[in-house]
Amino acid sequence: MKETLLHMLKANENEYVSGQDISNVLNCSRTAIWKHVSDLRAAGYEIEAVQKKGYRLLRSPDAVTSEEIMLRLETERLGRKIHYYPSLKSTQEMAHHEAAKADEEGMLVVADEQTGGRGRLGRSWHSPSGTGIWMSLILKPRIPLQKAPQLTLLTAVAVVRAIEKKTGLAADIKWPNDILLNGKKIVGILTELQAEADQIHSVIIGMGMNINQKLEHFQEDIRSIATSLHIESGKEFVRADLIAAVMLEIEELYDIYLKDGFGLIKLLWESRALSLGRRITARSLNGTVKGLAKGITDDGVLLLEDDEGRVHSIYSADIEI
Ligand code: BTN
Repeated sequence: MKETLLHMLKANENEYVSGQDISNVLNCSRTAIWKHVSDLRAAGYEIEAVQKKGYRLLRSPDAVTSEEIMLRLETERLGRKIHYYPSLKSTQEMAHHEAAKADEEGMLVVADEQTGGRGRLGRSWHSPSGTGIWMSLILKPRIPLQKAPQLTLLTAVAVVRAIEKKTGLAADIKWPNDILLNGKKIVGILTELQAEADQIHSVIIGMGMNINQKLEHFQEDIRSIATSLHIESGKEFVRADLIAAVMLEIEELYDIYLKDGFGLIKLLWESRALSLGRRITARSLNGTVKGLAKGITDDGVLLLEDDEGRVHSIYSADIEI
């Protein structure tokens, strides 16, 4: 109901919407409308109320609530069910919990702030409120376990395309799942599975996107390697716009993937990949390999040719370019 009210106010931004019209559409009393308006104000919306004229929306906050995302969402399946939290330890952890209960795919868990955000390789992910996008999407593809990394690559392509469409900025992908702008990390993707034997139950795709942070929002030790859309462009972005765009891009690519396989996604990924054809260093728990990044396999594994001409299959590593 609150979502419909917001929709009415936004559709008539800077104009008054009469209490009568609202109560006809929402089929509720004037008192109930007042209560919804108070809730929206508490969430940061500036709404003017004038007797005999009605309500007028003056300003919306840069919120990542389900209302703000839903207003912009153009997908059919993904993100149609959103669980929003003002503050949460980790959307990834919550999505794991939800995925175990849900039969359908597409649920999105979003938080304005994470107090225990998780990164790859056991690292933490700094997620202050009001600045970035911290979200986890639940998918339930019927694919073999070893193909799951393809979805990380698919997500990276989708995120790069969404950023380009919404901001005009051209980001690059660093294998497997870092997205860089001007050589600094702007997005991290963490893909986790719920599976049994060779059967995938859920793929949980966590995305951490640095959007409106200023330099001082980043801890000193990562200032030289991390950045935000704001730092790189000097502009501020509406986070819900970007979330809706990412969902749309993932859905479009995911539909292609389910229908035709990984072929096109692989080509798209390769066209954005920063590391291919270059000499790189891959550091993993199994050691360090230096060499030429030759390409990726159909399962998303990185092929690295060392100076002796041996080709190594890299499944998980930190890459230095
Ligand atoms: C990386 O290390 O590059 C991956 C970072 C992934 C961070 C996101 S933020 C939303 C989701 N919730 C988490 O706790 N982590 C992921």
